[in-house]
Amino acid sequence: MRRKLVVGNWKMHGSRPANADLLSALRGGRPYTATVAVCVPFVYLSETAATLAGSDIHWGAQDVSAHAQGAYTGEVSAAMLAEAGCRYALVGHSERRALHAESDMLVAQKAQAALACGVTPIVCVGETLAERESGLTEAVVKRQLSAVIHQLTHCAAEMVVAYEPVWAIGTGLTATPEQAQAVHAVLRAQLQAATGHGQTMTILYGGSVKPDNAATLFAQPDIDGGLIGGASLKASDFIAICRAAH
Ligand code: 13P
Repeated sequence: MRRKLVVGNWKMHGSRPANADLLSALRGGRPYTATVAVCVPFVYLSETAATLAGSDIHWGAQDVSAHAQGAYTGEVSAAMLAEAGCRYALVGHSERRALHAESDMLVAQKAQAALACGVTPIVCVGETLAERESGLTEAVVKRQLSAVIHQLTHCAAEMVVAYEPVWAIGTGLTATPEQAQAVHAVLRAQLQAATGHGQTMTILYGGSVKPDNAATLFAQPDIDGGLIGGASLKASDFIAICRAAH
């Protein structure tokens, strides 16, 4: 039985007062049956750590450098994230793939850098609307995941995968539970074939998850929880989504 995981991705939102309110509400919403985490902007990691210390809520970053250290202005290494107590780092979010031209190979190297420092990469994959309409969904997500599997080799079973159809992110359009389940089943079969541990690996769904659709999505056999954008910024919505995962 896989334990559900719900991760909030704050993206580039927040302020010290707003974060303090949100995090204390989240603490107050416990206990959760699911594992719960928030991925916050780098600059807020230490205060997030201070607020969540001693709770069972985890925190993480939204990106990580592929490099261990060096002259990489503006980048943050996995070792630094580990030092900040990060349990997770998102890698390959579609916004980074699209807006920062991150390739499948770079995403794979970032996942490897995270794992090397004990930070679990949450590897995001997903097709655009044009790709879905051309019947390419399966090919695209398998290609994106395959790059990471090959890079991580024997450690591949340690990653978390998040299926986020690009057309469902921030649009209010959610994949139907059946559409999401179909892709999750493909990803799980790929993970099983490559690692032998597909049945125990966590695969999240992301893209316009809200309190009113979370339970149906999470009830699908291969959907192990969610990666939540907009709704993770409103305490009552995020807590409701966390509670829908059990
Ligand atoms: P929304 O929940 O706002 O659609 O964002 C999903 C997402 O990109 C999470 O990483």
